[in-house]
Amino acid sequence: MFLSVEGLSLTIDGKKLLDSISFSAEKGTITLLSGLNGAGKSLLIRSLKGLENPESGKIILSGRELTKRKERMKAFALVFQDTALGIVGSTVEKDIAFGPQNLGRSHDEVAETVDEQLAFFSLEEKRKTRPAVLSGGEKRKLAIAGVIAMQPEVILLDEPFANLDYPSTLTVIRTLIKLKETGHTIIVVSHEAEKFLAHTDMTIILEKGRIKASGRSRDMIRTLKDNNVYLPADASFEELTWLR
Ligand SMILES: Nc1ncnc2c1ncn2[C@@H]1O[C@H](COP(=O)(O)OP(=O)(O)O)[C@@H](O)[C@H]1O
Ligand SMILES: [Mg+2]
Repeated sequence: MFLSVEGLSLTIDGKKLLDSISFSAEKGTITLLSGLNGAGKSLLIRSLKGLENPESGKIILSGRELTKRKERMKAFALVFQDTALGIVGSTVEKDIAFGPQNLGRSHDEVAETVDEQLAFFSLEEKRKTRPAVLSGGEKRKLAIAGVIAMQPEVILLDEPFANLDYPSTLTVIRTLIKLKETGHTIIVVSHEAEKFLAHTDMTIILEKGRIKASGRSRDMIRTLKDNNVYLPADASFEELTWLR
C-alpha cells in the first residue's frame, strides 16, 4: 500500500478529537473524506501534514514511516479551505515559484517548474496577474499549482468546492481528475459528494473523531446518505458528478 495510517489519535485540552484512525490509500487514487461539521476531517489532514501533534499513530508512505514533522511537511501538500492562506506571491508566477525556491531549487529548475505548472493548470496568460484578482476557480487552481510545484507525495485538499460558483467548481473537478490521471495521490475533504463522487476511488466517513464507515466509493452511496451526506435520489455512481 502506498499510504498507510495506523491508529492515529489526537487529544487537545483533554478532548480526544481523533480516535485511533486507520486507513490506507493506493497511489494514483482519490479518497473522499466526508462527515458532518466537527467530525475531525480538518484535524485529520492537518495531522497528516504535521500541523497537529497526534499522541499516537503511524504514517507510512511507500513502506517508510514518517516519524519527523519535517518529513510529513514535505511528503504531504495541504490546500487550505481558505485559498488566501496558501497564496503568498505578488503575481501568479511568483506564487508558484515560492515553494520550490524555499526548497533550495536552482533558478533554472524553478523557472522550469513554474512553466510546467502554468501549462498544466492553463494559467499561462495569468502569469503576471495579481492573485487577488483571479476568479475563485483560478485561485483554487493557483493554490493547487503552488503545492504541486513542491512535488509532494500526497495532496490533501480541505473543502476545495467551498464558496465556488458552478464554472469554478467544474474547474476544480477537472483539475482533480487531471492530477489523478498523472499519478497523484489525493485525499479530498468534502461533504459535497454529489459534485464529484464518481471520480473518487475510496470513501471514508468520519464521525466524532472516529471512522464510522469506509469502502470503495461506488459501494458507499447508501452509507453516505445514511450519514446525512446529500446525494440525489436514484442517481447511479457514474452520475454523481457535475461534469457532463
Ligand atoms: N485547536 C483545537 N482545539 C480544540 N478543539 C478543536 C481544535 N481544532 C478543532 N477542534 C474541535 O475538534 C472537532 C473537529 O474539528 P475539525 O477537524 O475542524 O472538524 P471538521 O473539519 O470535520 O468540520 C470540532 O469539535 C472542533 O471544535
Ligand atoms: Mg473542516
